Order: sequence, then C-alpha cells, then structure tokens
Amino acid sequence: MLQKEKSWWQKTVVYQIYPRSFCDTTGNGIGDLQGIIEKLDYLEELGIETIWFSPFFKSPQKDHGYDISNFRDIDSEYGKMMDFDKLLESMHDRNMKMVLDLVLNHTSDEHPWFIESASSRDNPKRDWYIWADGTKPKGKKPPNNWKAMTGGYAWKYDEKTEQWYYFHFLPFQPDLNYRNPEVKEEMFNTMRFWLDKGVDGFRLDILHAIYEDESLRDDEFSWHLFPSDKRVDSLFRKHKYDLNLPETIDFAFELRKVMDEYQPERFLVGEVYGSIEELSKYYGPKSNGLNMCFLFEYTDAKPKPKAYRNVISRIEKALPYPYTPTYVYGNHDMVRHLSRIDDNQQLAKLLVTMQLTLRGVPFIYYGEEIGMKNVNFDLKTSEDPIGRKFSKFPLSCIVKLFGISVTRDGCRTPMQWSNQPNAGFSNNETIEPWLKVPDSYKKINVEKERKNPDSILNCYKRLLALRKKSNVLFDGLFDFIEGNENKNCITYKRCNNDDKIYVYLNFINDEILLTCPVEEPNLLFSTLSNRVAIDIKAYHRKIKLTPLEGIIFKEKRK
Ligand code: NOJ
Repeated sequence: MLQKEKSWWQKTVVYQIYPRSFCDTTGNGIGDLQGIIEKLDYLEELGIETIWFSPFFKSPQKDHGYDISNFRDIDSEYGKMMDFDKLLESMHDRNMKMVLDLVLNHTSDEHPWFIESASSRDNPKRDWYIWADGTKPKGKKPPNNWKAMTGGYAWKYDEKTEQWYYFHFLPFQPDLNYRNPEVKEEMFNTMRFWLDKGVDGFRLDILHAIYEDESLRDDEFSWHLFPSDKRVDSLFRKHKYDLNLPETIDFAFELRKVMDEYQPERFLVGEVYGSIEELSKYYGPKSNGLNMCFLFEYTDAKPKPKAYRNVISRIEKALPYPYTPTYVYGNHDMVRHLSRIDDNQQLAKLLVTMQLTLRGVPFIYYGEEIGMKNVNFDLKTSEDPIGRKFSKFPLSCIVKLFGISVTRDGCRTPMQWSNQPNAGFSNNETIEPWLKVPDSYKKINVEKERKNPDSILNCYKRLLALRKKSNVLFDGLFDFIEGNENKNCITYKRCNNDDKIYVYLNFINDEILLTCPVEEPNLLFSTLSNRVAIDIKAYHRKIKLTPLEGIIFKEKRK
C-alpha cells in the first residue's frame, strides 16, 4: 500500500525530562534549565530527537510544577525566560524539538486568578473556577459525591465566601471552568504565546478532566477502588460526570485548531485515561483531534508475550494507519520500568527493542536508558504531596501490596551521571539534592555504561541509530507473523513499499528455535552486543535465539 510521507512528529522519539532532577548547575540541589542545556550533547549522542519537559513555569511547587501560578513565566528555581530562550535555540540548532507540559485543567490556588476568584462571590473572576453551594446542613456538606483522583471529596470549602470549589487532583489545584469562554480564550492564547516562541508541541496534563457535568449530577457507584490504566472507574465511582465528557473530546478538536494555525506542523499528546478504544476518540474521526495519546494499557501490560500481543493488536485495530499510537514504559508518576520488571536488565533490553520497533512514537523517561531503579522513600517525609496525604492511612500498606506506589518520589530521583558525589547531578558536591540519590548510582550511571558495550545505554543507542536510518521502522505497516511455533515469543514485521524488517523477541530464559521467513537473513541488531550474524544453516533453516534475546533482521540483498 502506498503511504503518504509522514510528518516529523510521527517519526520522532521523545525523551521526557523532569527538570528538577536532571542537572543542577546552581548548586542548590535542584535541576535547572542551564543544566539541561549542558546535557544536550548527551541526548543528541543518544539519538533523541524531541524532548518533553515536565513543567518549569512559575509555581509554588506544592506539586512540583503541576500547580502553576503564571503560565507564561519560568520559575526562578529553574532559571529565567532568557534561559528558556537559550534552551530552545540550542535544541533547534541541533534539530531537536521541544514539547512543553500544558496544565490546562487547573491552576495553583496561589494563581492571581484564583486569589481574585476566591475574594468574593461577585468578583469578575469568580466564574473562572467551579464554585457551588454545599448541601445541608448549612451548606457544610460538599455539593455532590464526586471524588478527587487522589482520593477524598473533590471539593474544598471556602469559609470566606461560604461556597465550595472543585478540584480534580489535589485541593491546592482548583479546576478552571472551561464553560467560561474567557478561560478558554486565555488558555488558547497561552498556547499561542509558547508556539510563537517556536515550541514544537504540548503534552496535555489530565486532559480527560477538563469538563464536568454542568448540573453537577451525583456520580454512580462502581466496585473499583484502585485506579487502573484501563478504565476510569476508581474510588467506588464511575466518573461518568467528571471524566471524558463529550465536551472534553470536542475540546481536543478545538486545541488542534489552535495548533493548526502554525507551520511547520506542531503536535499534541494527551494524558488521557480510559481504554484504548475510548482514547481513540480523542484522535478524532478525521485525525482532527489530538495527534497522539499515551496508551497506558501498553505500559501496564504484564511483561509477557500474550499480554503484549493482545494489547498491541487492540492498539493496531483502534488506531490503524494513519493514526499514530504511542509506546511508553514510564513517567514521573509511575514506579520505574526496571523495578516493575524485577530489575531484569535482559528483559529491559528486549522490551526496548519492541518499543522502538513498533508502529508509533516511543516515549523514554529520563534514566530509563541507563536502567535507573525506583527508590523507596518514607511517606511521612515524602516530597510528593500524595505520599504525605496517605502516610496516615493504613490504606498505604494495602496499596503497597497491589504494587502501586503511593509517593512518586521513587521515580523522580536525580539523574545518575557518574560515580562522583550526588551521581554528578549537582555541581555542589556537598549539597543534599531535593531527593536523595540512591547508592545504586555507583554501578548505574552514564559514565560507566558508556564504556560497556553490553550496557542498557548502549543497547538504546544502537537501536536509536538503527531507527534513524531505517524508514520502514516509522513508516512501515505492522503485522504479527502468524502461526509461529512458540508462544513464548513475539514476532512481527514492518513493511513499506521498498523494505521489510523482521523483529523476533524471545521472552523466556531458554534458547528457542524459530522459523526463518527469508532465504538469507541479514542481522541488523541483537540485544546481545556481540552477536554478528544469524546462522540458519546450523539449525535446519531455523533462527536460534538465546535466552531473552531480541533481534532485528531483513533479507540479504542479492
Ligand atoms: C498528572 C501529572 O502527570 C502529575 O504529575 C500531576 O501531579 C497531576 N497530573 C496534576 O497536575
């Protein structure tokens, strides 16, 4: 099938930086923009093309930047607007693209808009947020039964004006009211402010929560307590009236229109919760919505061939070409990928081989490429407000049993650059970084892994280099190779008009033999750094894969 030339964003690889934890050049134990500029060489050498930055806008930092008090300024902890301009310029000089984190859903309660809004019932900004009267007695009960994403009622009472305001996440993050056209216009202009500067895209924070039911109807009961990546039901609520409303999906189309005012093309990727099928609605019937959504069902899948085959098939079905899926293993809210797969480095190499060869855009969370692990932190002293919120509840023990992390500190520790003090994260060796660097940094760090051909880092590098030179890996159609003899592996091909590439992944700790689909296979990549060829003659025309090995090959040109 003839395929249209793909846009740059469909071919890219995105790396997520949590700015607080990347590189500290001011010596205060907190990462900064200058630090990121200094590490661009590293990212370029790794093969990264696009960087998404968690928010560095002005903020009281109660939720480390996801509580914004000025959407058009840089927080002094990270630098100045000058540093931002320099970062953008340095990235564009290298042909890298910049993606900002856009938190449209809410502001900080210290945002001047909210301060005004809360000042009196008739303030012109009152209707910028969602205020409602409480129920009886004396209005001291929340307006309805809605639950916040972090647990408890989604309403906070304001003594002064004797009304409640709505928040979907944490009480210091009041939700903006998008039924007010002024709010919409202001936020669209905020997007234009950054797009005019040359920013290449936005990641949209909890976009599914933008609109709520206008008449604030009570939510319906659900049996699900814990949240999941597959569905929005949680905390015994269906979230029918506060999440994924039709208005929110329409809003995605409006956001896209703002992006389409700009050339060259920019993109939107949504953090949206729901099943793959539900998320596909945000892409729009004519690809006129979000360019991409995070497909967390893949992230959440058991690291087993059956589970992956199932989720990839559903993704291919719900989002066939020209839609662009995303493939993600981690972010700043989740237990680190390597820890979720029991620190199995071979498996990590196998999984990144899959991630970088599926049809879609891969997102890599900083530190994943060196195999950084999740770190345990005490909930009482957690930097993450969610950790502190739950530290008093016995629930935190139950949650631990289910393998969900309560504090997100564990996946946000400083990047491990070297075996110097503080893992080389800060130029001040005596400072205690905002989150403690785990002892594992002596073994797991960029400097050490650079020198080891067999390291995870070099595996990422080899794969990214191959991806860059193989058009078929981003524009080829995807197909599983059916009828394979082994249920313990995943085999697929990617084909375009001129090329065909095969990916064979062995998920078990034993050798396996698999049928070779071509006369003479030409090895392009193996997770084993020392494999140089595929010898099918020795195995009756079969390909032998070593334990947990992944390979990429094509037919040798005659
Ligand atoms: C989702 C973000 O990923 C998370 O880090 C943040 O705390 C919440 N949204 C609230 O903005």
